Amino acid sequence: VSDIIRGQFQTSVLANQPLCDEHWRLTVGVAAAAGFPPTAPGQFIQLSCGPGLDDLPDIELDWPARGFPSLRSAQLHQRTAMLRRPFSLAGRRDRSDGSVELDIIHRVVGAGTEYLSTRQPGDALSLIGPLGNRFPLPGEGETALLIGGGVGIPPMLYLAAALAGRQAGQSREGEAREAGEAGGAAVAAVAFAGALRRSLLPLNLIAEPHPHATRPSACVEEFARYQIPTVIATDDGSAGCRGFVTQALEAYLDAHAGEPAILYTCGPEPMMKRVAALAAQRRLICHVAIERAMACGMGTCQSCCIKVRKPDPAATPLPGRQWAWRLACTDGPVFPADTLLW
Ligand SMILES: Cc1cc2nc3c(=O)[nH]c(=O)nc-3n(C[C@H](O)[C@H](O)[C@H](O)COP(=O)(O)OP(=O)(O)OC[C@H]3O[C@@H](n4cnc5c(N)ncnc54)[C@H](O)[C@@H]3O)c2cc1C
Ligand code: FES
Repeated sequence: VSDIIRGQFQTSVLANQPLCDEHWRLTVGVAAAAGFPPTAPGQFIQLSCGPGLDDLPDIELDWPARGFPSLRSAQLHQRTAMLRRPFSLAGRRDRSDGSVELDIIHRVVGAGTEYLSTRQPGDALSLIGPLGNRFPLPGEGETALLIGGGVGIPPMLYLAAALAGRQAGQSREGEAREAGEAGGAAVAAVAFAGALRRSLLPLNLIAEPHPHATRPSACVEEFARYQIPTVIATDDGSAGCRGFVTQALEAYLDAHAGEPAILYTCGPEPMMKRVAALAAQRRLICHVAIERAMACGMGTCQSCCIKVRKPDPAATPLPGRQWAWRLACTDGPVFPADTLLW
């Protein structure tokens, strides 16, 4: 999206709280003077996840003549995330003094996220953003189905806030205001959240989720605050429906056959492929947020290529080639599901 302004910003950690066994909610603040640009659900940031190069301790290596230092050196094996890591925006609050608070929810899987989990209020983190495109909002009369699995749940929280119909930046005097805070969803929406088990669900359950997918309920605080009911699915049945979130979605779609709906999904690719297939079977539009591993996040390194259908096969430069490469970071991360060749 060419009109997106991005930049590098210094942030200060405001809060960092564990949400479940492996997920943390990290809130960072950007000062008013920095002028953080507008953002939208689907976009992401690249966050520094280790000490800057200047802060790394010097390493003294014993370099023998006509040889190499021992690669067994413990210092060389120290796990440090040198590159920034991409994270979807899970929420944004614009304060009346012009400063901005950004939420990300991250799962600790390696050196970078381990580092993030140890950050304390007041610590500095550098980010580049906002990056990528955004989820198109639903059309008139369409029910938005928000389907998130694991680390794909965070962008659904920001989307839920946007669906609640208030723009980020509408601040009450002296208070932070989240997009859509305490507002009813301006469009009908149902959230679906999947996890391996309850203790890996990065959400605040305020009531026992219903065990049947056809009965979404106000069980998740983060969605209920926008009057969006939720279906929870866990592989082991420890919360909500037993099984995959896609099975819950299928049961729901069967029970609501023929009703206009638009699907939004983010999570593991096998899950999203199944969501896309369920949408295609029912001729429903589905938008997919791809979370391929990314090095730069800005279209430079070409590490995040994904194959898409050519919208106009007549324009293909190679006869017979009906597909093209796109970059998940700049052309996406959000793609219409029926364009992806994955
Ligand atoms: C656009 C985008 C948005 C994302 N949003 C979130 C988010 O909101 N919350 C969140 O927890 N994570 C998110 N991720 C994934 C997150 O960037 C990675 O988990 C993170 O980079 C891991 O860094 P690390 O140093 O802790 O782990 P590393 O040591 O770099 O990796 C640990 C393990 O995870 C694997 N891995 C790393 N990145 C990915 C990836 N993108 N997909 C699959 N496997 C991967 C590695 O291969 C390795 O096996 C997002 C990724 C993208 C591209
Ligand atoms: S992450 Fe570098 S080009 Fe996409």
